[in-house]
Amino acid sequence: METLKFKNNDEMPMFGLGTWKSDKGEVYKAVRDAIIIGYKHFDCAWVYENESEIGDALSDAIENGDIKREELWITSKLWNNRHGKEQVRTGIEESLKSLKLDYLDLYLIHWPVSLKPDVFFPTKPEDFVSLDENPLAETWTGMIKCVEEGLAKHIGVSNFSIKNLKKLITNTGFKPEMNQIEMHPMLQQKDVMNYCMSENIHLTAYSPLGSMDRIPDSKADDEPNLLEHTVIVKIAEKNNCTPAQVLIKWALQRGTAVIPKSTNRERLKQNFDAQNINLSENDMNEIAKLDKNYRFLKGDFWAIKGSPYSLEFLWG
Ligand code: A2P
Repeated sequence: METLKFKNNDEMPMFGLGTWKSDKGEVYKAVRDAIIIGYKHFDCAWVYENESEIGDALSDAIENGDIKREELWITSKLWNNRHGKEQVRTGIEESLKSLKLDYLDLYLIHWPVSLKPDVFFPTKPEDFVSLDENPLAETWTGMIKCVEEGLAKHIGVSNFSIKNLKKLITNTGFKPEMNQIEMHPMLQQKDVMNYCMSENIHLTAYSPLGSMDRIPDSKADDEPNLLEHTVIVKIAEKNNCTPAQVLIKWALQRGTAVIPKSTNRERLKQNFDAQNINLSENDMNEIAKLDKNYRFLKGDFWAIKGSPYSLEFLWG
């Protein structure tokens, strides 16, 4: 399995399992199946509300001898209502307790957006805390403390634009080791990629298959379907593989980690096997032409009327 190497020589498997939208009652089996198939990297987050069941699966798999803790790579993310130098500790402890782990391999600031401690998801302007009141640099100090105290081996961010990355680095003097962002052929993020690669910040692609299992309310009427895109289907046929496998291998061949979600055993296996496919230079060039700067996850829930955050702030 290909890996991304960190400064201290730790290696993160580039292929992992996404667990956003993996329902309770399904995710235990998905994680146990994935481990048997060969998955080692699991991408989690407090806000997905399924870390406890994932933790049961991980601890049962370890106890059963299916895998050792040190072979696993577990990522989790700090939710927006636990921003602040001291609050990060509460955030990571909640995730560690649910996941039944004593450390995370990677801990990310989920969004550059801050919410009041008792708010899960904002519905009104008062639910937000502005970055003047709760600067990301303070939250980052809390993240650094997690590494110093052995609670996380590596730290990074998610959903950060170049501008927000630069601001964080200037204000703290410390670089995140990872930026996890939405990336697929219709949102290739070439600028963010070039910047991150030049700064040795690794990238993880989320929603690589287009996250079609999002709740209907969060979907645009004219949303494209990546898995049915004629160019992707044509390249899949040519390579004797599936469209999902093309999308996964495309991400890996660009040098990014990728975390397709599935709770279905056959698709878990199919996605894992995508690692063995080889896309030609011509295939990669064809896919490079599909960029439309199209976001499935627009982030407009952070930019409701009266919010201190805007889409311009988020994506630049
Ligand atoms: P399921 O969990 O039933 O397999 P993303 O990773 O972009 O968030 O996309 C996840 C969505 O893609 C889910 O609906 C998931 O369904 C579906 N999916 C995962 N793997 C495949 C595959 N190999 N072929 C088709 N759909 C897939």
